[in-house]
Amino acid sequence: MSKVWFITGVSSGIGAGVARAALKAGDKVIATSRNLDKARHALRDVADENLAFVKLDVTSEAQVNTAVEDAVARFGRIDVAVNNAGYCLLGNFEEQTLPQIEAQFATNFYGVVHVVRAVLPVMRKQRSGHIINIGAAAGVIGLKHCGAYSATKFAIEGLAFSVGIEVEPFGVKFTTVEPGAFRTDLLDSQNVRYVPSSGIEDYAGDATSEATWSSYHGVQPGDPDKLGAAVVTVAAMENPPKIFVAGTDAIAMIASGIEGRLNPDRRTDLSDHPQLKTKGPDTMKKIAFGAAAAIALTLTTTAYAQDSRPPGYMIANYTIKDQAGYNKYMEEAGPLAPKFGGKIIVFNLNATAVEGEPKKVMAIAEFPSLADAQRFYNSPEYTAARKFRVASTEGSVIITEGFVPPKQ
Ligand SMILES: NC(=O)c1ccc[n+]([C@@H]2O[C@H](COP(=O)([O-])OP(=O)(O)OC[C@H]3O[C@@H](n4cnc5c(N)ncnc54)[C@H](OP(=O)(O)O)[C@@H]3O)[C@@H](O)[C@H]2O)c1
Repeated sequence: MSKVWFITGVSSGIGAGVARAALKAGDKVIATSRNLDKARHALRDVADENLAFVKLDVTSEAQVNTAVEDAVARFGRIDVAVNNAGYCLLGNFEEQTLPQIEAQFATNFYGVVHVVRAVLPVMRKQRSGHIINIGAAAGVIGLKHCGAYSATKFAIEGLAFSVGIEVEPFGVKFTTVEPGAFRTDLLDSQNVRYVPSSGIEDYAGDATSEATWSSYHGVQPGDPDKLGAAVVTVAAMENPPKIFVAGTDAIAMIASGIEGRLNPDRRTDLSDHPQLKTKGPDTMKKIAFGAAAAIALTLTTTAYAQDSRPPGYMIANYTIKDQAGYNKYMEEAGPLAPKFGGKIIVFNLNATAVEGEPKKVMAIAEFPSLADAQRFYNSPEYTAARKFRVASTEGSVIITEGFVPPKQ
């Protein structure tokens, strides 16, 4: 059955790419934009009766509510809402003004809040729906000059993980897309807001944000149309990933960021913390082993709220050397996790769609407990599959425990 999409910021880049791919898949699209002429021009090659344009500035809650009502009036339902509209405020955080930071949040965070609040009642009533937020690699790791931008993207990820737990029982799912660098108008001088130097001498020796970031404009590796097609693939999945890492550059950045949070030295530091010691050895162990992982990995979970056992995770991060060998590994290993109570919660299946040729894979499988994750990893079936992986990839696998809040 064809889907109805509601997409913000379709006038260029990733929003236009998603709209184009959805229309090519035979779906219906409510394409929203602040500038309808620009949006119509961007999608002129795919215009047909399945495409409707609605004027929308996402910073206005009233406009969002009206746009969602229009969408339902036009096509009867909303199956996929894509929160794509956004821009970058770039500069040293100390030199950013509060109004600049608030404006960044008004679009990148509150714009998402407005759409989520407006579409949830529709999707809850339908007992189905998928909210796809366009985050950023900078929404998982920090980047210089990106303080406020990055904070908005971390915020939408946190929102999606938490609200997802509340609405999954009603058939509503969330995916946060974390793109690397894509060739869009994001860094076009008309759109990006560079924060000028405020004269703080300590920063004077550094390259300005404009000098640092403007050189990336137009030469980013990712193709927004391929990302659009990958988002349509994700929307078609029965169990879509909660995080969708788009682009090998993003995978490399995010993988090292997550591995950094799991660094065993940090755990040791935490376990020595006097405040944690007062909570008793069990709690201390759980926090020490799980806290860093929890930040990155409490990605689902209804089990998290109901079960006092910490979940177990297998985090894999590979570079593929031999595609045929890797495919054999996937054929054998792919169906195994559910037999051990596990499910894949992050998988960068976009590698093919976005980059043309798979190079890197990052995957996270969640199991009911650490013991289940270990049983899976050491099982004869997985050991047999692992032989193909060892021969065809280079990388690392981490088996780790999740985090359950201590009982009061
Ligand atoms: N490109 C990348 O490398 C990259 C990487 C990570 C994340 N992202 C994220 O991807 C999303 C799309 O960006 P893009 O790269 O495709 O850049 P883009 O080509 O500049 O597109 C941004 C879109 O957002 C719209 N927009 C901005 N503020 C808006 C508002 N207040 N209300 C409604 N629409 C608004 C713009 O519309 P107008 O035409 O009206 O300005 C434009 O259509 C953003 O959330 C961005 O943070 C991009």
